[in-house]
Parts: sequence; C-alpha cells; structure tokens
Amino acid sequence: MTKISLSKAAPHKTKADAVIVGVVKSGSSVDVAPGGEDVASALGRSFASTLRSLGVKGSAGEVTRLPGAGAVKAPVVVLVGLGEGSEVDQERLRRAVGSAVRDLKDVGSVAVALPTDSVERIRAVAEGLLLGGYAFTRYLSENNTKPPDEAVVLTGLARNKAALNAVEEAQTVARSVNAARDLVNTPASDLNPVTFADYVVDQARGTKVSVKVLDERALEGGGYGGILGVGQGSETPPRLVTMSYKPRGAKAHIALVGKGITFDSGGLSIKPSTGMTTMKCDMSGAAAVVSATLAIAELGLPVQVTAYASLAENMPSGTATRPGDVLKMYGGKTVEVLNTDAEGRLVLADAITNACELGPDLLVDVATLTGACVMALGTRTSGIMSNRPELSESLRTTAESVGESMWPLPIPEEMREKVRSSKVADLAQHNPERWGGALYAAAFLREFVGEGVDWAHFDIAGTAFNDGGAWGYTPHGGTGAAVRTLVRMAAERAGR
Ligand code: BES
Ligand code: ZN
Ligand code: ZN
Repeated sequence: MTKISLSKAAPHKTKADAVIVGVVKSGSSVDVAPGGEDVASALGRSFASTLRSLGVKGSAGEVTRLPGAGAVKAPVVVLVGLGEGSEVDQERLRRAVGSAVRDLKDVGSVAVALPTDSVERIRAVAEGLLLGGYAFTRYLSENNTKPPDEAVVLTGLARNKAALNAVEEAQTVARSVNAARDLVNTPASDLNPVTFADYVVDQARGTKVSVKVLDERALEGGGYGGILGVGQGSETPPRLVTMSYKPRGAKAHIALVGKGITFDSGGLSIKPSTGMTTMKCDMSGAAAVVSATLAIAELGLPVQVTAYASLAENMPSGTATRPGDVLKMYGGKTVEVLNTDAEGRLVLADAITNACELGPDLLVDVATLTGACVMALGTRTSGIMSNRPELSESLRTTAESVGESMWPLPIPEEMREKVRSSKVADLAQHNPERWGGALYAAAFLREFVGEGVDWAHFDIAGTAFNDGGAWGYTPHGGTGAAVRTLVRMAAERAGR
C-alpha cells in the first residue's frame, strides 16, 4: 500500500513522478480546483488554451496527462475531473483521486495538489489514494499495476495533529477494505469455509480480537441446522467463525453477521452458468464483517463487537439438501427448504439467533442475499431493511457520510404471513411468487431476531462485486462494500 505523508511545500516545486491537480466543470468552462493554482500558474499563460485544445471538461472521472515541461518539478501533471460545481464534497474528492491513481501505472511517487483545506478532505484524499491504488495481482505472472510507493498530500494542515491522525485512520480503514476485496477476489478453489476460517484465525493473531471456530462436529453438537444444511452438499465442510472484541469502557455492544457462501452454485436448484460465474463473491458479507471488526479493534474504538462469519459452500451432490427437506435451525425453529439457491438466509439465521442470545444493542447482518435487491437498486446502491424504520434511515446517513450508497427498503406487513405459510414446518424458506424477493428474505431473517433487539440487514448483492470496469476508487471485482459503513457505525456508537 502507498505510504502517505503531508507537506506544506509548493506543488510546482515538489519532487515527485507526477502531480495530481483537480479541474472543476463550471458550465461550459473549466476551472482549476483549489490547491492546484500554483501548478496552473507555473505552466504559464497558455495553460487555459491548452485545456481547451485538449478538450478537458472537468467531468467526474476524466483524467488528462500533461508534461511538466520544466515549469513544474514533476515530469507529469495529472489533471483529474472533480465534476460539476465548485462545492467539492468528500466523495467527489475520493473518487477523483481514485481515478487519477488508477491512471498512474508504475510510478514511484505522486504529489497531490487538490482541495485539502480540512481534516475530512485530507481523509478523503488519503482514502481515494489507497482504495484507488488497489489491484488484485495474486494470480498474475506479471504485475504491472503497482500503486505508487509514496504519496505526498500538499496541504496547509501538514502539521495538524488531527490531519495526521485522519491519514492514519484512513490507512487502517483502507487496508481493511482492501483485505475484504482480496477475500472476495480469491477463487473458491482457494477460499473455502476451512481456509476462510484459518485466515480469520491468522489475521486476529496478535490483535485484541479473539476467534472461535465451530467445525462440522461442533455445529452438529450445537444444532446449527441452517449452516449444516447448506454446507452438506460440498466436499468441504462448513464453519461458523465468531470474533470477539471487548475493550474496557465499551459504550455499546454491536453484533455483526456476515453471509459467507464461498461459492454459490445454487445447490440442487442449480443456477444457469451465466448466473454462476461471479458466485465466488457470495462470501462478501462475511469478508465485510471480518475486515470491519479487525479495523474497529485496530482503531481501538470503545465498542464491543461480536462478529459471525457463517461459512459454507453451496454445492449440488448426493448429500446436498433437497427442495422439500425440513431443517431444524439453531434455537429449534424448523424451516421448509423450497429452493436451495436461497441458501444465504439459512446460514444467516443460525448466527442471528446465536447473536441475539448475547443481547446486543444493535445487530447488523451483511449479505449478498438477493438478485431482487439488484433489480430494485442497481449495482451501486445496497438495500437496508430493519425492524425499526428509523434505524434504516440513520444507517443510510452513516453510509452516505463515508461515500457508500445504501437505501431503505420496507418489510411489508403481508410478508410476515407469507414466511409463516409452510404447511410442514414453522417457516417457508422461499416465496414461490416472483415479486419482492429482497423483502421476503428480510422478513424471513426477522423471524430469528430476538425480542427487543435492534436489527438491520444490508443486502449487498449488487454492490459487492463490480462485474464491469473500474470507476473512481472502485476496482473491477470485489469492492469491499459495507466495510466503511460498519466501521463508521461503530465509531458513531462509540461517540466519535
Ligand atoms: N447469492 C445469490 C444472490 C446474488 C445474486 C448475489 C446476484 C449476487 C449477485 C443468492 O443466494 C440467490 O441465489 N438468491 C436467489 C433467491 C431466490 C432463489 C429466492 C435470487 O436472488 O435469485
Ligand atoms: Zn443462492
Ligand atoms: Zn447466495
């Protein structure tokens, strides 16, 4: 990861392989964003006409390279579009830095001359650098996508303690988002429930997080019928990983539950091959809660966290769960399985019941749960469902504050009756009607939430994996969705 420092030096005199300058679209003209004026004036009077000739518009994501031509110490000036309007918020900044850094392949050092007149803007720039510089290279014979070794952010706040702190925190958060991305991008041949559990044990070593792993025998002993039912078709047995962070003086207890299907073939209700290609991403919820918990502990936030990763591989075989089977879940409720491809809710339910026994102040589950949520909200907005509408709204705000798009969806009243409509078991796992699949799934999960527990469910099916091209600081592949929101949520509960 890029090493970030702050400096008060003048941008045009700063030694680096490239200097990043912002351009803002204002109507039909282009303005240089604050922080870059010094570079613009060093490039001389022809600068404005150069921008015009090159067709620089300042639109979000636009990247143009100019030679420093001796007037600027850096040999390359990278102009990055900040989009329309002079009110540059943190997310516009984060995205622009991400776009710029993705464009810089194989540079050793970069200087950033963007608007950085506040601590929060410095944080956004640091996050943009570290998140945009991410590349998944583990399986490449040749790696030509290395992020810069060093970045210097040019700011008047270079010696400000809060600014330096924000850079440190950005480093922790970005490392955790990138770790979640790595997990998501790792093929299911290498990341299965057993290796995932080993990874968590490994990562927690030497931290303030303790880890407990239930193997298939312990799961049987504990009556975890949901996790076992989903995992029983695979050659690799399921696992339930519990992480615990319990700092002194904790202001609240948060429970997190993540869906960790290391591959979702659909099981006997098998998916068509087109729907299966990206299904190594079906453990993104577990990756998010594991990574966020490690970050919360590293930040030393005074909030207790208990995080669950429900890990199973959903495969078809002679031992797989069949449609029509009845599972006895952790806690004793019975569920009629009607579609083995709706497996996420089954592994989540066991962990949700267990988490509620601890009486947390807040329970959040994170899951690539339904295609229906993608239909409703697209691929850049996650769904939030809750047993308390105000909680959905406040989490939406939390997500927005860190640049993640999430939107409340309802759990309509009629869903309660539908999930309880099975004639052979307490609950029906799947709604044969086609509509409202995300809402039905949430209503099913709600059945396992203990009385009086505040619960929210993040459906990240659309946002966890970027099937298309990179944009802003979002790479192709695993995005690390929900990690930043979970960390921020913990910080808020800790009174920060
Ligand atoms: N893992 C999928 C959901 C998913 C879809 C994640 C697209 C990421 C991208 C989930 O297990 C699933 O298959 N859901 C089914 C549920 C249906 C059978 C009720 C779906 O959404 O089609
Ligand atoms: Zn599925
Ligand atoms: Zn799934």
